[in-house]
Amino acid sequence: MLNTETVSKPSPLPTPPMLSGGLPYIGHAIEFYRDPENFFRRGYSKHGNVFGIKLLGQPMAILVGPQEQSFFFKSTDKQLDMEKPYQFLAAMFGRIAFLGPHDTYMLQRPILHSLFTRDQMSSYLPIMSRTVRQWMDTLDESGEFELTEAMTHLVKEVAGRCFLGDEVHERLEAEGFWDQYDALSASLDPLLYNLPLPKFKRRDQAKQTMRAILQPLIEERRANPKQDGFQYFLDQPDGAGVPLADDIVASFFSALLFAGHETTAGQSAWSVIHLINNPGYLASVREEVTRVLGDSSEVNHVHMREIQLTTAAVQETGRLRPSAETLIREVKEDIELDGYRIPAGWFAMTSTAAAHFIPDYFSDPYSYDPARFTEKGEGRGFELLTFGGGLHKCTGMNFARTEMAIIVALLFREYDLELVTPFDKIGVNRGGSSKPTPVIVSYKKRAND
Ligand code: HEM
Repeated sequence: MLNTETVSKPSPLPTPPMLSGGLPYIGHAIEFYRDPENFFRRGYSKHGNVFGIKLLGQPMAILVGPQEQSFFFKSTDKQLDMEKPYQFLAAMFGRIAFLGPHDTYMLQRPILHSLFTRDQMSSYLPIMSRTVRQWMDTLDESGEFELTEAMTHLVKEVAGRCFLGDEVHERLEAEGFWDQYDALSASLDPLLYNLPLPKFKRRDQAKQTMRAILQPLIEERRANPKQDGFQYFLDQPDGAGVPLADDIVASFFSALLFAGHETTAGQSAWSVIHLINNPGYLASVREEVTRVLGDSSEVNHVHMREIQLTTAAVQETGRLRPSAETLIREVKEDIELDGYRIPAGWFAMTSTAAAHFIPDYFSDPYSYDPARFTEKGEGRGFELLTFGGGLHKCTGMNFARTEMAIIVALLFREYDLELVTPFDKIGVNRGGSSKPTPVIVSYKKRAND
């Protein structure tokens, strides 16, 4: 006799409605690559909170809206899993942290978090201010610079000096370690990452070069410990108290420094662009920064608490131009959501292009309005995807927000800036993490009031 309790009945619910326009085999890949923003917005306006797409034969359910996004984050590492969809990142760094199995992640998670404790964050603040000032010292009284490249360089400096210490950072720079990230950035591709294309060969070569540069340094420091960020991380045991093996340490450093600069570079550049493009709001940021910082050369914790208009500007840029436009999971067991069944084997995906522009949650969503965070109380739940959510919420969120606020505060306190490249000619670099295409900015040192 059948035991009816253990036999699961097939769900009568339909799978999510498929968005029109999919082609045989490649599905929606062309539209996804060509114009991802309008692609996801088209799906949301046609079908609402849950709809299906296909990318190279892989069915995916797109989940849009606070409830659906909350489900996405709360189900991660349960019915939803990160390992398979993020194989393109594992191809860059190996199967560490969330790029590996859940057990590995839970063992290694404390190491990541140890970098962002209160004490560690306090030690980063002066380094951030100093590094931004050193970059500004390279500017003349007036002139022009290319913003995207300048921000990429600056945030690499900040990440390196905070997480490695000056000595190791400068040594890695001299040995060509940082140059390898160009190849890694160019290889960010969730669909094609396994094909024998030149850009993926360059990625694999870069990975080997980085490993070869880090290995002797790790050995030197194991034999002769010193006191800096590099050593601090090297000495961290995993959650079971076991020291990390050399190859895991090398993978972690490569991944951490990537996470620490690639995302932040684009959002820093966009923050500057948005402020120049919104002179009314910029005037209030400037007033705040001048009042709170005075002529202090360093931004400290007290300042950080008080420059709320500045941090709201950075947050608004994170809504309009987030570095991670989609987050992806593999569905491990059938899910029922909003009247649909999403079968095991599908992927689930969130989209900032759809989620961050829903007028029910973000008033006048296409306009730049940082006051939505300070005065209107928007984006306090799962509406905002900029830094993810749940167990895997961005570990470096406070670091990144602090760094971006410091860049904006010090730069606009000292300089008047203008866009030489018109705002409507600035594109989004889709080959990486949504950095702006090259932007020429002119600057002029401000007279002391
Ligand atoms: C503007 C800058 C940044 C943005 C927009 C950003 C965005 C994100 C997002 C969306 C996630 C979640 C991914 C998912 O759920 O699939 C994430 C995770 C993560 N981020 Fe960031 N990030 C930024 C800066 C940083 C920095 C500076 C670091 C560290 C140096 C960092 C380290 C991490 C780590 C380690 C995770 C994985 C957390 C986990 O799995 O527990 N991020 N980030």
